[in-house]
Amino acid sequence: MSWLSSTIAKKFAMAISGVLLVLFLLSHLTTNMLSVFSEEAFNEASHFLGTNPLVQFLAQPVLMFGVVFHFVLGFVLEAKNRSARPIKYAKKSTDNATWMSQNMIYSGLVILAFLALHFIDFWIPEMNYKYIQGLPEVTDRYYEELVHKFQNPIRVGAYVLAFVLLAMHLLHGFQSSLQSMGINNKFTPSIKKFTQAYAVIVPVGFIFIALYHYINH
Ligand code: HEM
Repeated sequence: MSWLSSTIAKKFAMAISGVLLVLFLLSHLTTNMLSVFSEEAFNEASHFLGTNPLVQFLAQPVLMFGVVFHFVLGFVLEAKNRSARPIKYAKKSTDNATWMSQNMIYSGLVILAFLALHFIDFWIPEMNYKYIQGLPEVTDRYYEELVHKFQNPIRVGAYVLAFVLLAMHLLHGFQSSLQSMGINNKFTPSIKKFTQAYAVIVPVGFIFIALYHYINH
């Protein structure tokens, strides 16, 4: 992909894929939040998403491609930055914002590890149920499956830790993606505030769901 050869093009592609993932997070949070308010609504939404061909064969492959693309390009950019800066900064900054921007690769790696666990927990059993075993659709199974996963305190702890690192990743990543896409106008300070609020509220929402099911079942 020669169009990706310059660092600017890579940063731009990183930003586009990042924003796609940020949008996915909000829709994923919304669906999962239903499980806190109504078992029936959560089952209905999961059944719809799990059986709709547009979601299954268009949105899901695009999302998977986006996830892999974002991680692979993240590693490439990190390797490039390291080789351009063979001597480490003499003194790491104590400024929080700079610290987070310098450690995107580490928060990204934790999120990658979380995704591996998360896929083993939910996505692989789902693919197995539907496409490998070809079991008949049971529309009210989703809530039970979800609640069951949040009974194990070690899993809940691992999820919560990953969500804290997700917040740190988004705190730098979301605003930086807009900068990489060249969005810079009089609304920039307000946009920055919005991205920071989003970076905290979405992971806190996920933490709430995990703890809610752990405490209530
Ligand atoms: C408490 C928090 C969360 C819960 C309860 C949850 C629940 C689920 C469930 C039930 C599925 C299976 C969907 C299906 O294929 O039928 C799923 C898939 C998935 N989750 Fe999560 N999730 C949570 C947090 C996250 C976070 C923070 C991320 C990203 C960093 C994430 C990324 C994904 C991805 C990429 C998939 C596969 C795509 C899909 O099938 O839609 N999840 N999740």
